[in-house]
Amino acid sequence: MHAPSGRKTKIIVFSGAGISAESGIPTFRDQAGLWSRYDVEQLSSTLGWQADPALVLDFYNQRREQIGQAKPNAAHRAIAELEKKFEVIVITQNVDDLHERAGSQHVIHLHGEITKARSTLDPSLVYDIGYRPITLGKTCELNSQLRPDIVWFGEEVKQLMEARHHMKRANKILVVGTSLQVYPAAHLVDRAPYLSEKICISLDIDRVPRRYKFLRGKAASLVPMVTQRWLTSFQ
Ligand code: OAD
Repeated sequence: MHAPSGRKTKIIVFSGAGISAESGIPTFRDQAGLWSRYDVEQLSSTLGWQADPALVLDFYNQRREQIGQAKPNAAHRAIAELEKKFEVIVITQNVDDLHERAGSQHVIHLHGEITKARSTLDPSLVYDIGYRPITLGKTCELNSQLRPDIVWFGEEVKQLMEARHHMKRANKILVVGTSLQVYPAAHLVDRAPYLSEKICISLDIDRVPRRYKFLRGKAASLVPMVTQRWLTSFQ
């Protein structure tokens, strides 16, 4: 599908943990993924937080430190390069900042950001903390404990309406490194316009979304192949 003349072709990249795997950040559901080693209920739910906030803070503090030391890989960089020619919106389930550090300008973080903390009293009070840890006793301006600004199971996904809006207007969609098992985020891929070009890259996936061309392999090799083709083609 081409953009109407005068408008830039709009590309949506929908990414998941697999895109950051080659930067050394573990995925969730692969064999050695985080949810095979840790209890998802304990670390990704408000009940788990209430039961043992120190344990939850420690888990996300370690992840934050690891992400701070990681570097964007060839897949993140290739996606950022698309902005030379196209309108690009990255919709990511990832809480890392590797898309931004590679140079992507428009990134929607559906599941929050590890470099932000939020009030446990008022979710609208969000603070940039960089790669620093959150400790017990660190509070917001209302004196309530800070927690990671990460969407836990049962909580509302961020900027979902905005993400849907962009997806419905896409000319090309690149889905990369996600198992598409977590909803409502995973529903977004089915909102792609019928006539758009749709590609899905993953090492492994249970369900390839309908009408997507599936490329099996690693993001850092396959994403630059696809983006180079788009950058050098006429549309
Ligand atoms: P998953 O761990 O569920 O899936 C990662 C996908 O990436 C799998 O399909 C892998 O086969 C694929 N993969 C692994 N390495 C890859 C590589 N080098 N190149 C390409 N693909 C690769 O991660 P997500 O789908 O992102 O939520 O998980 C969705 C959500 O579940 C996460 O955002 C997280 C988690 O609970 C929160 O933290 C709120």
